[in-house]
Order: sequence, then C-alpha cells, then structure tokens
Amino acid sequence: SRTEPPTESGTGVRGRTRAAIAASHLRTDRWWLAPAVTAAGLFAFVVYSTWRAFANAHYYAAPYVSPFYSPCLADNCATMRHGPNWGLFGGWWGLSPALLILIFPLGFRLTCYYYRKAYYRGFWASPPACAVAEPHKKYTGETRFPLILQNIHRYFFYAAVLVACVLTYDTVLAFRDEHYAWGHMGLGTLIFLLNITLIWAYTISCHSCRHIVGGRLKHFSKHPVRYRLWGWVGKLNARHMLLAWASLVSVALADFYVYLVASGAFDDPRLF
Ligand code: FES
Repeated sequence: SRTEPPTESGTGVRGRTRAAIAASHLRTDRWWLAPAVTAAGLFAFVVYSTWRAFANAHYYAAPYVSPFYSPCLADNCATMRHGPNWGLFGGWWGLSPALLILIFPLGFRLTCYYYRKAYYRGFWASPPACAVAEPHKKYTGETRFPLILQNIHRYFFYAAVLVACVLTYDTVLAFRDEHYAWGHMGLGTLIFLLNITLIWAYTISCHSCRHIVGGRLKHFSKHPVRYRLWGWVGKLNARHMLLAWASLVSVALADFYVYLVASGAFDDPRLF
C-alpha cells in the first residue's frame, strides 16, 4: 500500500523532516498479525465482560463471589447477607451492581500504558505497528482532549489497589465451604488464588507504581528501601504486557467459574 509523500504541512511520517518514502511501510514480515490478534482478544473480553456485567445473575455461589461483582455496593446484591459488601448505594439502585464497581478496574486497564498501545494499534491503527505509517491525516498524540485524560491513570492505580485488596479478602473467604465453615478448599479456591496473584502482579507492575515507588529521587543511595522496591517493581514491570493478558484471562476465568457453579452447571469439587 502507498501513502502520501512528506509535505511542508504534513505531520507524523509525512512531516517535512521525514524521508520522502511513498510506501506506507517497508516491512516484509507479517506485522499485522500482532495487532489483529490483540484486537480479537480485547474484543472477546469486551463482549464477555459486557454480558456478565449486565447479566445481574449467577455471580455468587457460596463461598465464591465473582470478581466482576466485588465489592458489592448496592442493596440488591445477592451477596448482601453473606459476603464482602457495603450497601453504600442503598435500595434505589436497580441495575446490575457490577456497573457500580467495574468502572475502576475498567478505567485502570483502559488508561494502562500497555493497553493504550494495544488498542491504539489494534483498533485505531494509530500506528498499526512499528515502522508502519498510520492512515490518519493528523496526529496529535495524547496532547488534546479526550486522550489527554489518559493522564488520570495514576489515580486509577490507587483505586485498583483498593479493588485488589477487596479481591484478596474474597480469596480469604474462599477458604470456607458452602455453609461458611472455615478450613476448606475447593477448585474455586485455587482459581481465586491464581487470579489474585496475577491481579497483584499486574497492579504492582504498573508504570505509575514504579514511579510512585522509585520516582523523583535524586540519589538512590540515600533511599535504600525505595531503591530495592523500585528494583523489584522494575522486574515485574518488564513483564507488564504478559501480566496484563494473564490477569485479564484469570479474572474472566474466575468469573466464569462462579457463573458455572452458581447456575448449577457444575459442582465445585472440594479438595479438602
Ligand atoms: Fe499498565 Fe499502569 S501502566 S497498569
């Protein structure tokens, strides 16, 4: 495919400082594969999570509560009597209680540095891949509304930490049986443990977390604890993409498991 050659007023690869190459790219590999797979994966998750968020059913099977519905903030929660919940929204809320809470993990992922790259490439072709010219005439990056709002990612990080704490609490409660007696473990408990581990790993590997832990320091030598923490976060941060996908799959898996048990399709095998 071809693109316009650089001009005086052009931007991006058509800017006047760029080489006068008419082709939109010179890559000979299958560069489109990664953005296509990414778009398909994200689309599948959006379809699944939209269905589950609006379903308002089959999200609680004692002792498990779906991570999509936790914490429960309205009186119409199936978990009101048993599980972790705060009826902050009282009885007037008639829609799915998941809609009250999903905005936080959704906002965290939507503004995540990795997911931004993923959906800019996968859905907007901006740019489609490295060294491939984007089809748009203008490019303003994230300097204007609405994309300048991506800067609120650091605040979503704090919200995501709170949500991860609640999901940790849910995982502790999963060490009960269906009659709420402690000291039991089911297949669901293992799935919840896997999920909360990946959720924490993804959350802590966040670029904002790395900056909060080790940023704005002039001398690491004067802050040995923060330096050490920064090193640990940095190691996780190098795997941020992997953790983003692994935790996305695990949270959907945990929800689907609760759905299967709650809808009666499956009995949670008790391991002890
Ligand atoms: Fe991805 Fe913060 S950069 S979660």
